[in-house]
Amino acid sequence: MTDTQLAIIILAAGQGTRMKSALPKVLHPIAGRPLVSHVLSTARDLEAGYIRVVLRHERDRVAEAIDDGGPDLEIVDQDDIPGTGRAVEVALQQLPVGFGGDVLVLSGDVPLLRAGELAELLQTHRTSGAAATLLSARMTDPTGYGRVVRGGDGSVERIVEQQDATPDEAAIDEINAGVYVFRATQLRAQIGGLDTANAQGERYLTDVIALLRRAGEAVAAATAPDPRVALGVNDRVQLAEAAGILNERIVRRWQREGVTVTDPATTWIDETVTLAPDVTILPNTQLLRATAVATGATIGPDTTLTDCEVGEDAVVRRTEANLAVIGARVAVGPFAHLRPGTVLAADVKLGAFVETKNAQVGEGTKVPHFIYLGDAEVGVGANIGAGTITANYDGVNKHRTVVGDYAKTGAHNVFVAPVRIGDGAYTGAGTVVRKDVPPGALALLAAPQRNIEGWVGRSRPGTAAAEAAERANEGGQEEED
Ligand code: UD1
Ligand code: CA
Repeated sequence: MTDTQLAIIILAAGQGTRMKSALPKVLHPIAGRPLVSHVLSTARDLEAGYIRVVLRHERDRVAEAIDDGGPDLEIVDQDDIPGTGRAVEVALQQLPVGFGGDVLVLSGDVPLLRAGELAELLQTHRTSGAAATLLSARMTDPTGYGRVVRGGDGSVERIVEQQDATPDEAAIDEINAGVYVFRATQLRAQIGGLDTANAQGERYLTDVIALLRRAGEAVAAATAPDPRVALGVNDRVQLAEAAGILNERIVRRWQREGVTVTDPATTWIDETVTLAPDVTILPNTQLLRATAVATGATIGPDTTLTDCEVGEDAVVRRTEANLAVIGARVAVGPFAHLRPGTVLAADVKLGAFVETKNAQVGEGTKVPHFIYLGDAEVGVGANIGAGTITANYDGVNKHRTVVGDYAKTGAHNVFVAPVRIGDGAYTGAGTVVRKDVPPGALALLAAPQRNIEGWVGRSRPGTAAAEAAERANEGGQEEED
């Protein structure tokens, strides 16, 4: 049910200077999605009446990334006045004039908070009746965060930013998570009073706390039991830390759903992945984007699957695959590279050093050793010989190779596309197939082998090879005698 008395403002207008990146900070991904998307989907879970996302730096790029089509979502453009306080001020102007409910402010770079924790913060706020309730956390290393300054009676007096803190204030280990609930009316009354008399010359939202206190309002703080949820991402060290914490959560969730993960520390699973019970994931494996794995399958070790579908009881070892469909009971790898458009039907075997691209392989077919299949269609029950290459590219266009059902092609073939090898056809070892092979035919491209007797002895006298040949020939003569 929509909470019409709740508005959520997500702050995402900053550049993220400390990231030193061409990509806006809030678009840096963790678990496969931009930081700000994590914040937005958490916000969505709260079913607020209004969501406002404040943008400025690379506005269109960020707007495109967060557009989820929700009718309650509106983008607010911050002007050239900098600071989190100014961001909230412009967002407030985009709420209905009469809105008198609560305003939950979230930071686009604080991605690990969950809806439950925010609902609790809101609950605390609503029961205490304070004008503002902020989320705080006790950090072993509070460096970089705003510190919560409390008075003698323990009440929150103000927040001081790292750059503006005295040594005593900097020693405070209670930090401001950058997440607050305000009563809209009291917030509106104070936000215009912010100034830029601080180290960064910005209108700090954090200064609203002192303004509220000065106006005689009560301010409450809820301390997060686990400080890790308050992690803010300002640089790449914190980005990796946030990614690690989120990944640990995702891995544990799947473990509890019946997935075996032998080495959580080296297993990376995007939030968008789906896994069935009794999947096994071996060390050094990344499951990314829309990858889905069916029950009984084993993935890894050393495997990266991006947007892949893996069928029941399939085994995928030491493989890189992207946009590939791997059927039930298929065996892939080790050392295979499956590129987009690969579709392997049930019971296919794809062995070592095989690369496929836009290739459909029929049920039970074997593609076992050192093979490139590009723009190819192979029927059921076929066997492709070791070392075979589809020559699919003529330098301008790509062409298809079709291999029929139960065909058996020889080792070290080249299929020069477009070409068709019929059902039940065979090809000899070393064949360069340039012409279609009719069903049931054997294609050969065999120049007669010529042996020049004694060539090594004459042309490479004294070498180990010549000596070995001589010994072998003498042995042969003795037997003949
Ligand atoms: C802010 C808080 C700090 C808190 C920390 C928690 C202020 C002044 N400081 O510091 O007390 O401990 O978050 O992580 O609020 N943004 C805008 N418009 C702006 C500036 C920033 O929308 O003009 C957005 C940023 O894109 C970002 C968020 O606000 O998503 C926070 O900004 P950031 O510069 O990262 O603030 P911190 O220095 O981390
Ligand atoms: Ca920050």
